[in-house]
Amino acid sequence: MLSGKVLSVVSGKGGVGKSTVAANLAVSLSRQGNAVGLIDFDIYGSSIPSMLNISNGPKSMNNRIIPVESHGIKVMSMGFIVKNNDPVVWRGPMLGKVINHFIDDVIWGPLDYVVIDMPPGTGDVAMDVSRLIPSSHQLLVTTPHPTASHVAERAGKMAANQHNILGIIENMSYFQPPDYDAKYYIFGRGGSEKLATDLGTKIMAQLPLLAPEEDDFEPSIYKKGSLLFDKYEELANNVQDSTA
Ligand SMILES: Nc1ncnc2c1ncn2[C@@H]1O[C@H](COP(=O)(O)OP(=O)(O)OP(=O)(O)O)[C@@H](O)[C@H]1O
Ligand SMILES: [Mg+2]
Repeated sequence: MLSGKVLSVVSGKGGVGKSTVAANLAVSLSRQGNAVGLIDFDIYGSSIPSMLNISNGPKSMNNRIIPVESHGIKVMSMGFIVKNNDPVVWRGPMLGKVINHFIDDVIWGPLDYVVIDMPPGTGDVAMDVSRLIPSSHQLLVTTPHPTASHVAERAGKMAANQHNILGIIENMSYFQPPDYDAKYYIFGRGGSEKLATDLGTKIMAQLPLLAPEEDDFEPSIYKKGSLLFDKYEELANNVQDSTA
């Protein structure tokens, strides 16, 4: 069984940074002393294993699964089941089974937070997960452009039916050159403010553009000393305050 507060990272659009946000938020929450699980439900484009450089899948014990431990967090990913990046064409019942399997048959142990990386959109997977984990807090990721936020709004409205929208994370908000105060709003401005007003929620973070320093150990996790490391620490604090 899953224990702990569930945080679902969602958006209406692909490529806005859900997986990056889910992985970095999970790692920051863990660094701040929480027991954290990270579930990657992105069937069609699972990216968490490569982001955390996990090469071995989970082991099983007495028909139950031991999640992979990485960066202090417990990880389960659709990528452990779908091999060689095969495109997945599962639908409905099959999908529901796998989702149940991740929730019921994994030895999670006691957790404070479960971060869920959702696939883009409001399709089957998002609906099934919403149904099976009804008490989750939604974190809506958008880029700053008003059009992007419009798409995120649709996902937010779906979420609002059964879930608590914890807030909005605006990703790729601006570019700030190192050692320089100026901010460049490359993808426009105002999207997250509009979304927050429309959905009656708050902005949890505005995260600048910055690619993580690539290395073999943790290719997508921001390192101490980078601006985004500090931003994710703030976000993790903010999430803890908002879910206390
Ligand atoms: N703040 C940022 N600055 C620079 N690059 C970023 C930022 N956030 C994410 N990226 C990059 O953008 C790309 C897309 O990010 P990511 O895979 O997290 O998005 P996603 O929403 O999960 O995509 P999908 O919908 O395909 O699952 C990745 O290459 C990631 O490294
Ligand atoms: Mg993703």
